[in-house]
This record gives sequence, C-alpha cells and structure tokens, in this order.
Amino acid sequence: MPGTVVLGAQWGDEGKGKITDLMADRMDIVVRFAGGNNAGHTVVCGEDEFKLHLMPSGILYPHITTVIGNGVVVNPKILLEEMDNLHERGISCEKLRISCNAHLVMPYHMAFDHLGELSLGNAKLGTTHRGIGPAYSDKADRMGMRVQDLLDDKIFRTKLETALERKNAILVKAFDQEPFDVDSIMTEYMGYAERLAPHIEDTSLLLHKALEDGKKVLFEGAQGTLLDLDHGTYPFVTSSSPTIGGVFTGTGVGPTHVEKVLGVAKAYVTRVGYGPFPTEQQNEIGDKLGQMGVEFGTTTGRKRRCGWLDVVLLRYAARVNGLTGIALTKLDVLSAFDRLKVCVGYSYQGKIYHDFPPHQTIFHKCEPEYLEVPGWQSDITDITERDDLPEEALRYVEFVEEAAGVPVEIVSVGPKRTQTIITREEYKPAAEEGPYLYREDFDTPATNA
Ligand code: IMP
Repeated sequence: MPGTVVLGAQWGDEGKGKITDLMADRMDIVVRFAGGNNAGHTVVCGEDEFKLHLMPSGILYPHITTVIGNGVVVNPKILLEEMDNLHERGISCEKLRISCNAHLVMPYHMAFDHLGELSLGNAKLGTTHRGIGPAYSDKADRMGMRVQDLLDDKIFRTKLETALERKNAILVKAFDQEPFDVDSIMTEYMGYAERLAPHIEDTSLLLHKALEDGKKVLFEGAQGTLLDLDHGTYPFVTSSSPTIGGVFTGTGVGPTHVEKVLGVAKAYVTRVGYGPFPTEQQNEIGDKLGQMGVEFGTTTGRKRRCGWLDVVLLRYAARVNGLTGIALTKLDVLSAFDRLKVCVGYSYQGKIYHDFPPHQTIFHKCEPEYLEVPGWQSDITDITERDDLPEEALRYVEFVEEAAGVPVEIVSVGPKRTQTIITREEYKPAAEEGPYLYREDFDTPATNA
C-alpha cells in the first residue's frame, strides 16, 4: 500500500508545501486531487522564485511524475503560464500528466465568481475569484467542459455553444454584462489544446498501474478540511473535497492503496475569506501571530485572520479524514508568547460542546473554552530532536496528540528542511537539505485585499 496522503487539517495554508517537499524525494509520483488555482505557494531556490498554483509540488524534482487528477479544475491559461515559467528556468514539465476527466475553468466561470460575490454584498464568501465554484457547479450540473474535450474541436464547440446559450442569457439579462463569444473562446482554448495534448491521459489507469507496481505515490492536498464542501463551514467553503474522500473521487484509485494520511496543522489557526472562526484573535495577539508567522499573501499583502489552536477542530479533522499522523507546523511562532491558549470546547447557551457542533449557528455564536498553558519563550528553530524541545513545547505537542488522538509525527520549527523534527522514519527526506524552500502564500484576490 504505497500511497501517502498529505492534506490540510484546518482552513488551508497550513504549510503543506514544505511537508510535501520533505517527502517528495522518496516519491515516484505526486498527484493533486482537488481544487484549482485557488491554491498556491511560492517556491524559493537561491535567487529563483516560482509561483505554483496548479502544478503539483513534485514538478521540481526530475525523477517525479506529476499528475493533475480528475478532481482538479484546470485553468489551462494558468497551467501553461506555470509550465512556461518553469521551462524558462530549466525545469522540464515533460512528465506532467493531466487527467482527461478533469474539468476546465472557462472565462465565464471567473466572471460568474466575481459577479456572484458582488451580488452577495456583505454576505460574500471571500472567494479567490478564480472561477472555482462556478466550474465545480457546472460539473455537477453536467454543463462542464472537460480536459478531454480539448482533443476534439467539434465536441468542444458543441458543448461550448450549449453552455454559452445559458450563461450569456444570465449574464446579459440578470447582470447587464457583455455576452461571451464562442469563436474567441474556441480560438483561445484550441491554442491551449495543442500545447496540452501530449500531457493528457487516463491518469486513474496510470496511478493504478504505478501503485500495483509498488511505486510510491503522494496525494497532495490543497485547501483544508474546514473548507470542504461537505465537512467544512458551509457556505464559507471551497467547492471541492479537500478531505480524504476527495483523494479517491479526485484520482480514481481505491482506498486500499493508501497507507498513511498525514494531516497538516499549524500550531495556531489562520483563515482567509469570511466565515466563523471561534478562536480568532482580533487584537494584539492576532496581530502578533500574524507578524511572527508572516501571515499574509506576499502578492497582495492581505492579512490572514489569526487565532489560538483549536483542538476540537483538529480532532474533527482526524475523524473526518482518518488521519494516521499530524504534521504540526510553525511551532516556533508560538515562542513569542509567555502564555498560550488552546480551545478545548465551545460554550453555547449553557452547554459545552467537545465535538464540532451539529448546527452552524452554534459554531458561529459559541464562546471558546480555553485551556491556558505556559509558553517556552526560547528559540526552538534549531531543534531537530523532539526530546530536545523545551519542556513546555514538548507538553504542547503531547497535548495536541492526546486531544486529536493521533500522533504528531512531524514538527516544523522553521521554513528550512533542517528545521524539522521528524519522528517517523519513512518521512525523513533522503537529503538533509533540499534545493527548495516552500512558502505557503496562497495568492488572494485583489478585490478582497
Ligand atoms: P474559492 O475556493 O475561490 O471558491 O473560495 C472559497 C473559500 O475558500 C474562500 O474563503 C477562500 O478564501 C478559501 N480558499 C480557497 N483556496 C484556499 C487556499 O488555498 N487557502 C486558504 N483558503 C482558501
């Protein structure tokens, strides 16, 4: 069972890039299973900076085959820009494989994402405006354009005409916007088709064969558990399944191929966009977490919302995903505090909830029940053995694993590979220091900045 899953256990931006990179050099294949270019991280290598939104992290390693699974929604323009950017810096995308069943993000999806947010006014979700929700809606509505449609211009045109008939009617009549033109989209997308064709295949079959042959496959998550369409804080969620179920529907392999499910969680919590967040600190504590943790997208500078660790949510993520381990990231950020708080329950109308509440109103209106623990207030960024952590930091990690009921197998204490405590042998990278530095910096939309 050589499949390993790395997924987000909170609201995204947990530091999955670094954890994926740690494991990548032992992998044969890295596959993305959900989301689209709403995700993203910056990869730094010496003077070079790469911004990756759609490309699986493994692309930077020549031995790895990277796969964009059928559960991903692909904006071909963005994908080709990323491929060109990598090519310019000498990185080959020859081994990139794109599922023939993945859906395409179309120009009208971005228009509807934007208009949808505008029409919601104060009730807006804070989406990334990348067309993700509308692309998944069309998929469910059986109106979507798939990657395989790029290979047949007649089918592409027929489907596009059908879709545009409906889309343009809404755009013109409901939103007073210009309609989209079939011919110009055809010209644009057929241009993409020519370049992407050599990469398109049945990736379910490819993955199945690889797993049967004992090849090591890493399933790379995007976003996080609380942004899941079913299990997250609906409607303040993304439109796909970043949780474990998404791995299987989003790649076309069965669950018996997966051996380890690693949930990545920050030692505190952040979220972008709107929606409930019980442990949020809209005060100097939140500001300090944001500053110490550099919690803003580097492109727009939009601040992430920050708050104390919530172990109720972590236990929920462990349950929903069947986590076998946790990677706890940015523990070093907490070194700045003399006292720390951890949310262990929610209080609402005289009742304490120790599990994720069954009704969203409770989650919206509850008061967090905190446990206060001492901080360690010392530099832990050079520690590589768990037992060398200051006692308070070790207690904090142990508390997390007790509360979540899952072992903490990786603790990250800084951005570099060497700044990582790894207790599970298989997760140790082959080389001490990798060529790349990952910065989780999901690029937020200017309209929300
Ligand atoms: P959408 O995925 O663009 O539709 O946005 C829906 C919600 O998910 C918004 O609150 C976004 O801020 C959030 N979101 C989407 N992708 C990410 C991510 O990669 N990290 C953190 N939040 C995200």
